[in-house]
This record gives sequence, C-alpha cells and structure tokens, in this order.
Amino acid sequence: MRGKFITFEGIDGAGKSSHVEWLAELLRSKGLSVQVTREPGGTELGERLRELLLNEPMHLETETLLMFAGRREHLARLIEPALARGEWVICDRFSDATWAYQGGGRGLDKNKFLALEHWVHEHLQPDLTLLFDLPLEVARERIVLANRVLDKFEQERADFHERVRQAYLERVNAHPSRMRIIDADNTLENIRKQLEVVIASIC
Ligand code: TYD
Repeated sequence: MRGKFITFEGIDGAGKSSHVEWLAELLRSKGLSVQVTREPGGTELGERLRELLLNEPMHLETETLLMFAGRREHLARLIEPALARGEWVICDRFSDATWAYQGGGRGLDKNKFLALEHWVHEHLQPDLTLLFDLPLEVARERIVLANRVLDKFEQERADFHERVRQAYLERVNAHPSRMRIIDADNTLENIRKQLEVVIASIC
C-alpha cells in the first residue's frame, strides 16, 4: 500500500521544525516506516540549491523556478519512490511555501505558480498539510531569542511575513480537507496534543 505524504508549513519562527522528528517517532511507534526530509533541499542537488536560495539575491521568477526545480528532483529521487515502497514521508515545507512566500510575500503571478505546480506534481498533493500558525510578533520574538545568523527570507520586513501568513491562511480556505491549522502560539505539550488529534484522522 502507498505511504502517506505529510507536509509542515508556517511563517519563519513558527517552530514547526522541532515537531517534525517528534511526529516521525510517533508514527514509527505505530510500526510505520517514515522518511523525514525538507525543502528547499532533500537531495544532494536540492541542498546545493538551498544554499543559493537562502543566501543569494535573485529575480523572483528565478527563485520560483529553482524552488520547483529542486522539488522536481526531490519528488523523482526521494518522495515518489518512498511513497511507492509504502513508506510515509514527512516534508518540512513543500509547494504551499512557494504559494505563500513567492506568491503572497513577493507577489508572483498566481497563474505562474499554478502552471509550475501542474507541471511538477500534477498527480500528487500532500495527504495532509499542517500549517503552524501564530501571530507575527510571537514568531519574531522566537527568531530573535534563537540569536543566529538570519537567512534571506528571515531578513525580510514584517509586512512581507504578514503577507506570507495571510497567503497560507487563504490556501487553507481553498484546501480545507488537506490542510489543518495548528495553533503554534502554545506550549510544546499542547501543540503535540493537537498533532496527535489531527494525525489520528489519517492513520
Ligand atoms: P526553513 O524551512 O524555515 O528552514 P530553517 O528552519 O532552517 O530556517 O527555511 C526555508 C526558507 O525558504 C523559509 O524562509 C521559506 C523559504 N521557502 C520559500 O520561500 N519558498 C519555498 O517554496 C520553500 C520550500 C521555502
């Protein structure tokens, strides 16, 4: 039986990455075989593209095309084969991030996004997408507290991140059965409880 494809999304500082491994372990404890991966990245080529994408200034359409180029490679080399073997795949960000960041944040034409999505994964959408949602100020505070070097996206102004957040929420409205909101302005324990409930619905 084909495995399930779960993606994690949210604005920078939403804290989603700390829950990815925890969810993988929860699923493994149920006897499932689980692969954890991320975008941009996930393959050798994808990780090299990530370096460029997170650090080099570039034209919006170049950025979008590279996101989807890396995704094509990721699907062909890792995601599709794993799902076909019956493994579950948890991916930290996928195409909803392009919708939110390049579309909402930077203003990419929606039809260009839809054309690329259709080209690269016409027949595949995540079975479940968890959107870690929280107010911008709380996310910013977490980034400041982490006290590390900020990448190109994290350095964007607050209005950029607000547009990213709104674009994510719009996308949930458009895909209510695939996407679920996790209230990320909460304790670790509470967030895990929310994840358990949502996951139970697809296990
Ligand atoms: P992120 O996944 O948040 O990694 P980390 O937790 O190490 O900071 O960083 C990836 C960044 O890439 C994030 O700011 C969102 C951005 N991004 C896009 O702009 N478009 C995309 O399609 C993807 C997948 C990510």
